[in-house]
Amino acid sequence: MPVDVLVGLQWGDEGKGKLVGPLMKKRDYKVVARYQGGNNAGHTVYYDGRKLVFKQIPSGIVVPRTYAVMGNGMVINLKALYEDEMRGLEEAQIDYKDRLFISDRAHVILPHHVAAESSATSKRIDTTKKGIGYAYADKAARRGIRVGDLAEGFSNHNARQELIEALETFGTENPDGVLDEQMRHLDRVMQNTRVCNTAAILNEWLKLGYYNILAEGAQGTLLDIDHGTYPFVTSSNTTAGGAATGLGIGPATIKKVIGVAKAYTTRVGEGPFPTELKDGTGQRLRERGNEFGSVTGRPRRCGWLDLPLLRYAIDINGATELALTKIDVLDEEDTIRVCVDYNGLKKGEIPALSEHLAQVTPVYEKLPGWITSTRGAKRFLDLPQKARDYIDFLRNNLKIETSVISTGPEEHDIIIFPEQ
Ligand code: IMP
Repeated sequence: MPVDVLVGLQWGDEGKGKLVGPLMKKRDYKVVARYQGGNNAGHTVYYDGRKLVFKQIPSGIVVPRTYAVMGNGMVINLKALYEDEMRGLEEAQIDYKDRLFISDRAHVILPHHVAAESSATSKRIDTTKKGIGYAYADKAARRGIRVGDLAEGFSNHNARQELIEALETFGTENPDGVLDEQMRHLDRVMQNTRVCNTAAILNEWLKLGYYNILAEGAQGTLLDIDHGTYPFVTSSNTTAGGAATGLGIGPATIKKVIGVAKAYTTRVGEGPFPTELKDGTGQRLRERGNEFGSVTGRPRRCGWLDLPLLRYAIDINGATELALTKIDVLDEEDTIRVCVDYNGLKKGEIPALSEHLAQVTPVYEKLPGWITSTRGAKRFLDLPQKARDYIDFLRNNLKIETSVISTGPEEHDIIIFPEQ
């Protein structure tokens, strides 16, 4: 049984969360696993008429009789995990008991990580202010605290002393109090979940051939710490390769990589955005697409689709298929532009420096809009001809098959190929 990866091809917010449930049902994934990031992500899912926003728990947890894994590559805010998400599941009467596994190797986001977000760097990048970068910095500096380290502190006095000393080195005032608080949060979290070696469990499932596994990426390719628009990126490997390290599974277990892109582009936070629209069209896309951050509420910057960046993202991830989302947001555009190249650059060349990418001049092709509602279309042939032409144009240009088209926010607003 394979692992497939669902990964964002843009700057995040491609609508991955909405796709997870329908894909899990259609393709029979029994396990959904997050491999990076923390509560900087916001995956919105409509479940039973209710809006649920998942930040750390994989959004596929809403599918009954499945397992959800929070992998070693994540950084976890335990307080937010319990108070925002587990309680949310309880209110929505989604039974997650014994279905959620948390890696004992995942690092914990501590109060000093969040406090450090008042730095000039965080302001310049316009981060989500959740302490993500600082938690990963402590991880890389080999002084971070992991979920398993905290759990050990429950029964082992020496381990507890070491945790207090670690907190002291971070300059934490009242380290005893901070530790007690973190352990209280972990205790609540552990009442309904299992903190364990999730890599071992995933590998066991894979060896026994029990379950199909879907790795659910957060953020997007252009926010990847290595491959994104550095330094305007997040602090983890958001791309498909991150699924192997962030879950502890072999790369050869990964079969399909489903790259998710919106039918246009958005970005939240600072950084280069060649096809950004600062005019009324951008404003219209923002309103029609409800492009406001699900974590911070910040308005997202909007622009046309950027094929040079998408080709790059398809390559970096080895995407085997394309999931195109929010096509309905373009329903009222007379003319749709698509950036097919950057003037003066070789095909496929993406500048390493963000200031250079910010200066490229996009070459646009104009395509006719369809001025017909595509909202809620469930079959490819239900789409107006011009919308189908738009999708075919993208498939031909990107040389990738479209396997999913999302036509609205509700779970059933979707076309998944092969159609039945
Ligand atoms: P951080 O991940 O909070 O450190 O923020 C770094 C950059 O990534 C900022 O520009 C954020 O706006 C952006 N970012 C982080 N998470 C998301 C997300 O889930 N969607 C879109 N942008 C994100």
